[in-house]
Parts: sequence; structure tokens; C-alpha cells
Amino acid sequence: MALVKINEILAGRHTDQKVSVRGWVYRKREGKELIFMVVRDSTGVIQCTIKKANPSWSEAQKLTIESSLMLEGTAKEDTRAPGGFEIGAEAVTIIGLAENFPISKDKSEEFIRDMRHLWLRSRKMNLVMKVRAETLEAAREYFKRQKYTEVSPPMFISAAVEGGSTLFGLKYFDQELYLTQSSQLYLEILIYSLENVYCIAPSFRAEKSRTIRHLTEYWHMEGEWPFADMNDLMKFEEGLMTHVCHTIAEKCQAEFKELGADIEKLKAVTAPFPKITYKEAIDRLKPKNPALNWGSDLGYEDEKVLAEDFGKPFFVYDYPTEIKAFYCKTYADHPEVAMSVDMMVPRIGEISTGGAREENKDHLIERMKAQGLKPEDYEWYLDLRRFGTVPHVGFGMGLERLLIWMLDLENIIDAIPFPRTTRRFYP
Ligand code: 4AD
Ligand code: MG
Repeated sequence: MALVKINEILAGRHTDQKVSVRGWVYRKREGKELIFMVVRDSTGVIQCTIKKANPSWSEAQKLTIESSLMLEGTAKEDTRAPGGFEIGAEAVTIIGLAENFPISKDKSEEFIRDMRHLWLRSRKMNLVMKVRAETLEAAREYFKRQKYTEVSPPMFISAAVEGGSTLFGLKYFDQELYLTQSSQLYLEILIYSLENVYCIAPSFRAEKSRTIRHLTEYWHMEGEWPFADMNDLMKFEEGLMTHVCHTIAEKCQAEFKELGADIEKLKAVTAPFPKITYKEAIDRLKPKNPALNWGSDLGYEDEKVLAEDFGKPFFVYDYPTEIKAFYCKTYADHPEVAMSVDMMVPRIGEISTGGAREENKDHLIERMKAQGLKPEDYEWYLDLRRFGTVPHVGFGMGLERLLIWMLDLENIIDAIPFPRTTRRFYP
């Protein structure tokens, strides 16, 4: 008897054959003459029936929700069964009998969030995690095709990247260190050796904001490369986004269907993306939000309003220098503008930030001082400008932000298996 996966049966590969599956009880209903069970494995769910006359009837009666089991029977096509197939069970073996499973339909969202370790077995989380894995793979594939080398930066760092307000400090033996907010500065080191580099790694933000788009630990896809400008940067990001969206649209049709997510918007993503300057963004938003002026940071609400005009991914570039990090390169003839660009998508707003980096040591020191940073904390970073400095660009895209947009998820916590937020760090 062949040991098979449920999705193979659902694909019609074992119809009218004897099969054996291993998995867990997802649902169960006992009638007088027949037990209906839905069994799940990593690949899907399938309806199984056991007749009273079957020697395994009493064993099947004992089965509780989430018990693990091995089941043998005949795979049959049955249009009444969800998925169109079922297994007529002939033998049932309990592997691990489950206690009373705490998650059921009537439970609150809050309760389910506390039961994350069990909720990850749900169909929704199973499907989201598969799309997440495919997204990571598609992104890596794109970087690799473009000849970028994957590198591994540290998570313990000694100086801030993105400003002190979201920095997590920690005791490191007798010293104070931080958790990295972005791997950018380390990628900048590595371009002098490897040129085009990228990493996919966690970033940490002591983010007090409780929104649907903020985590305190998220996965960051970051690229950095030399001899390049803002146009090269936007072109690369468009290429990455298009490749990921099209790959997911092709490979994850079943997941999108079951999750009820709109796959068409992924197919519609094509380069070049619309591009507007920050100034134009302010002009567009001003009638709706009169408080906005040149120099204001765009908030979540502003970005959402802006994104409605486009209905697809787009760029906003050339931000005011004063609201941007110290490493941003500015225009020589109008230094109040920084070469910084955000990619935005409908409903979520910003999903990536990138830009050209200041390659002149003296300008960089001025920018650090203007932001109250101590140049001596960044000696190694200044060395990069001392020894063979080069124009370079890079960007960082939040994996979970990309996923909530692609999958139409309501909250970023569902885009990562173990969300970390101000209040959540269990399990
Ligand atoms: O805009 P940010 O802060 O830019 C940087 O960190 C740059 N150093 C990146 C670079 O140039 N290499 O963060 C980049 C992206 C954001 O656009 C967003 O998608 C994501 O990281 N992000 C978050 N995602 C979830 N939760 C948070 N708290 C996030 N903060 C940023
Ligand atoms: Mg940003």
C-alpha cells in the first residue's frame, strides 16, 4: 500500500487505489452508521469515511480533534466531498491521541493569538507560510540571476542605523549593544569586496506604534551595490517586485484561491512603475490633509490616500534631507533634497526604502553631527569613504509588508509564524 500525500489524492493520482496517509484529525462528525473525518497533512485536507462494520470503528470513535493518525483505505472520486475526493477508510491507527483541543470556531481572535503554537496548524497559517517560503525563494532567485552574492551580516551591532528612537539596546557582557535595525551598513562594507550583495535577515525595531504594518522583529530583504545611481536602483526594485509577483501568481494559485486572495493584482504588476517626487506627493495630498507641508514626514494615512490614486506599486522619491537618515546622499546644488526612494502599494503604503549613499567622507561627518551622532562611533563606516570610496545605492524591503499586500491580509502578524510586537512574544 502506497504511503501518499493528501494533495496527490486530490490531484487524482491515486483514484480507486489503496492508499495510506499520515496526518491529524481536522474535523470529525459521528453518525449512527458512519464516521466522517477530515484529515490534514502538510499538503491539504481530505474527507475520510469509516463504516460501522469496519473493525477500526471503535478506534475511530476514540479519535479526537488534532489526534495524529495513520489511515489506510481506498481513494475515491466523490463530487460531494470538499476537494472532490475522499478516502473510504479500512484501517485506522491512532498515533497520538489529542486532549481536548482548545481552538474552535467560537473562540475570540485574542484567544487564538495566544494559542499561536496551535493556530499555526490552521489552513490559513499553513497556506500563508507556504506563500512566504515561495516569496523568499523567488526573491533569492532574482538576486541570484542578477549576480548578487548573498551575505550574512551580524544581528548584534554597536551603533544605530535608523535612529535612536526605534533602537533595542541590550546588555552584552559588560557592554551595551543593540539589535540591528537594518543590515545596510554591513552590506556597504561588503560591496568593496563582492560588489553586488544582498541579505535576507531579521531587523529589529523598538516600534511603539501598534498598526497593522509594524512588527518589532521582521524579515528584511536588503540589497546594496556600487557604481550605480537612483535610476539603477528603481529599475532593480521594479525587476525584483515584478519577478516575485509573477512567480507567486504562477506557483501559488491554489493557496490564493483557498485564502480568497486576489491573484490578478500580482499578474498586473509590470515595470516601469509610476514615479512621483515627494514634492508632487505633498501637492496631491495637501487638499485632503492641509497640515502637510514640504518637510513633513508622510504618515500611514497619507501613504494610503496616495496609493489609492495608483492602485498598484509605485515610487515616491527625492525626500527632504532633514527627515532622512544620515547616510542619504543629497543633491550638490540643492542639499535640502536627499536621493531617497520609497516603494508603496495600495492599502499598506511603504514597503521599501532605498537610496543613494553619501560617499564623501566630509559630507558624511557633517550629516552625522547635524543629527547628533558621534562620528567616532562610525569610524569603520568612515573608513569605507577613506579607502576607495564609490557611488553606491541600496534598499530594504520588509518581507511581511510585501506579504500582507500580496495576500490581502488584514494584519502583519499573520505574515510571520511567530509575530513579535509590543505586546506579543509568546511562544
Ligand atoms: O524604511 P526603513 O527603515 O529603511 C531601512 O532600514 C534602510 N536601511 C534599508 C536599506 O536601504 N537597506 O526600512 C525598510 C523597510 C520598510 O520599507 C518596511 O517595509 C520594513 O523595512 N519595515 C518594517 N516592517 C515591519 N515592521 C516594522 N516595524 C518595520 N520597519 C520597517
Ligand atoms: Mg522607510
